[in-house]
Amino acid sequence: MSFIASRINRIKPSPSSMAGQRARELRASGRDIVGLTSGEPDFDTPPNVCEAVVRAMAASKTKYTDVGGTPELKAAICEKFRRDNDLDFGSGEIIVGTGGKQIIFNALMCTVENGDEVIVPTPYWVSYPDIVLLADGRPVLVPCAPENGFKLRAEDLERAITPKTRWLVLNAPNNPSGATYSHAELKALAEVLLRHPHVWIMTDDIYEHILYDGRQFATIAQVEPALKERTLTINGVSKAYAMTGWRIGYGAAPAVLVKAMVKLQSQSTSNASSISQAAALEALCGPQDFIAERTAIFQQRRDIVVGELNRIPGIHCHLPEGAFYAFPSCAGVLGKTTPEGKVLASDEDFVLYLLEAQNLAVLQGDAYGVSPFFRISFATSVPRLQEGLRRLSQACGALR
Ligand SMILES: Cc1ncc(COP(=O)(O)O)c(C=O)c1O
Repeated sequence: MSFIASRINRIKPSPSSMAGQRARELRASGRDIVGLTSGEPDFDTPPNVCEAVVRAMAASKTKYTDVGGTPELKAAICEKFRRDNDLDFGSGEIIVGTGGKQIIFNALMCTVENGDEVIVPTPYWVSYPDIVLLADGRPVLVPCAPENGFKLRAEDLERAITPKTRWLVLNAPNNPSGATYSHAELKALAEVLLRHPHVWIMTDDIYEHILYDGRQFATIAQVEPALKERTLTINGVSKAYAMTGWRIGYGAAPAVLVKAMVKLQSQSTSNASSISQAAALEALCGPQDFIAERTAIFQQRRDIVVGELNRIPGIHCHLPEGAFYAFPSCAGVLGKTTPEGKVLASDEDFVLYLLEAQNLAVLQGDAYGVSPFFRISFATSVPRLQEGLRRLSQACGALR
């Protein structure tokens, strides 16, 4: 019998973390890898945030804090929700954790019983189904077709709901597809959810600010206030503020859920780092203009990447509406043969071929629940992106 508990055998390591690690190892072994797997902005944390941290350390803000976050940070989060999302929360409805990931983990652990169902639209961010499995739940994957912009449709949601459904997970702008929902599209989903009062909504809004072509962000509790009493709205500083390593995420939900999540966190990690909370406070309260400037840079890169991808025979890419990923189809190269004589049968084969033949690291769509696709992160410099696209084109051109 294995010493390792069965819950660990039920899950797989995060494919994006593994790919990042593999690219670092290959680089260390001397290979010139172009890594386009990164889920983090290549920009630096803003200087005002770093300066605030120095002040916090000098003021000895280095001790345990309240488990669910410092009162100052929770107040700033309430203000953020009022400012950006027209949502009113009290401090008892806010929890700060070690990244948005911990908020998701806490919420599912606190609410999902053996065999409960959690609806996860595909493509999905890699961690949702595995955290559901850790919580003894059953991920119910609902395909969102490329023809529908990779968005969940009301009729597909209606069909997926059963008496065992605990949660619907929403994530927009979406990782990996970049799909976003308009006010009207969220309203259509909300109408279904209003008919099923036992279903809670977990909305992961971490890419809220990274939206293109002048789109406006909307979140479900704002679009349908009647759902606020069963919605967990998740956000964080990782993406918009280029603060992935600081590990601060937060959630807003009815106090009954927040209280349970704080209780769980009190027996696991306790408070998120005090210094990182001081950093997040400054990020949320300080200047915000740089976010739009950086988003404009992401949009230029998106246009370069998608334009170039669509010039490569066998590859087809839709235009992402937000986040910093392109999610092209590689259906047109499957069945072809590499110069080494291997027939490409899946997106995983294709991604391995790119790594071996061209030292190009991207992630297979299979990791996000949709094949045959692959994900390219454009959170990297234009010259590196261009080199990556050149290698991709060369790899595709060498197939027979
Ligand atoms: C959709 C989505 N949600 C949550 C996270 C986790 O973010 P954090 O760094 O706050 O844990 C990520 C990170 O890649 C993400 O892409």
